[in-house]
Amino acid sequence: MDMTDGAMTVDDVEVASGYLDVEKLRRDFPILAERVHDRRIVYLDSAATSLTPRPVIDAISKYYETTHANVHRGVYATAEEATRLYEEARIKVGRFIGATRPGEEVVFTKNATEALNLIASSWGHANLKENDVVVLTEMEHHSNIVPWIMLSEELGIELRYVPIDGSGRLDLSNFDEFCDGAKLVCVSAMSNVLGTINPITEMSKVAHDHGALVVVDGAQSVPHLPVDIQELGADFLAFSGHKMMGPTGIGVLWANATILEAMPPFLGGGGMILDVKPEKFLPADPPDRFEAGTPPIAEAVGLAAAVDYLQSIGMGQIRSHERSLTAFALESIGEKLGDDCRIFGPPAGDDRGGVMSFSYRDVHAHDIAQVLDQYGVCVRPGHHCAKPLMRKLGVAATARASIALYNSEDDINVLIEGLVEAGRLFANA
Ligand SMILES: Cc1ncc(COP(=O)(O)O)c(C=O)c1O
Repeated sequence: MDMTDGAMTVDDVEVASGYLDVEKLRRDFPILAERVHDRRIVYLDSAATSLTPRPVIDAISKYYETTHANVHRGVYATAEEATRLYEEARIKVGRFIGATRPGEEVVFTKNATEALNLIASSWGHANLKENDVVVLTEMEHHSNIVPWIMLSEELGIELRYVPIDGSGRLDLSNFDEFCDGAKLVCVSAMSNVLGTINPITEMSKVAHDHGALVVVDGAQSVPHLPVDIQELGADFLAFSGHKMMGPTGIGVLWANATILEAMPPFLGGGGMILDVKPEKFLPADPPDRFEAGTPPIAEAVGLAAAVDYLQSIGMGQIRSHERSLTAFALESIGEKLGDDCRIFGPPAGDDRGGVMSFSYRDVHAHDIAQVLDQYGVCVRPGHHCAKPLMRKLGVAATARASIALYNSEDDINVLIEGLVEAGRLFANA
């Protein structure tokens, strides 16, 4: 499909039973035409990074071929066009998540991790002092834990972790008490291990009633669900380009304009100042204040193309496809592998995304992943940068299959076939 023709509509890619026309969509992803071990690639690692569709690759190539220049400085035509594309990308990405002032509220970072570090370092240093409380949850990615531990070691703030329950959901029965005296609540909208979609809107209301701001880690939700920051009630949202069909090297921090305006710079350098004297500097307004140095220009152009691509399919349709496929996967695995396969996280439903972490018999997650590789199946073994959660689950590692719009029931069937073989080769019990 050539997105530049603007030919595709939702009807073109949507088929019965909530599924997208995967065969058609797969043709947009050149890497899926590759073969490994003489098999087609069954890509089930989109929670780590998503595949890149042709329109995104083309937008980046076109930028380098026709428009590459540094932004915000040059007055020659190409430089002005590069600046226009970069700023247009900011507006597009902001509108995608419902920002009302995207030109001021969207900061481009290196990835979601840097966006979360920016909040901890800039907002944290300006607003937190000893004994202040920051609420986290037990299902956070290290990116939304370690920056807060670093700050707590430096400033002596208290970290409180909302526990998970037996179903892999947050136990919010005492959330009100957790928020008592809190300045900040940091929560993932969708777990990268359990697939749990957290009730951010409800949590934000409680947090705000206690005067706390809300940081939402949208690394797994923005690529897979319709996300509207107004509806979430978030004060900050962090996500990565490379998990949403965009390129690596770019992430996004959205923050309410009033909050951003009051935050001090994060990194110092070119582009983030109004004036510099030998002994002091005057910072620029947001978002420039937080974008020191040459920003990810080609990456922003690619991310804008990724947003176009996702929107041309429709986030609602993408969610509906992935919801149906997750339900199929959980049911098929249950039917074919029974209790031998332990899948972590809630059952299929409104609060379950397409990330499926599992253990199979007594086979080590790395052995599972290696056998699956022989079937062309790409999954991720390990702790998934969520060690506190792994400890809570009582496992050192899991294998994780995660889906996106290019996956089909057939992919799940190959996964199951590979798992049976892993059991045959490695299981003792
Ligand atoms: C929930 C969650 N948050 C944050 C991140 C960090 O994303 P990045 O590595 O792109 O900074 C990830 C990456 O896996 C994630 O799954």
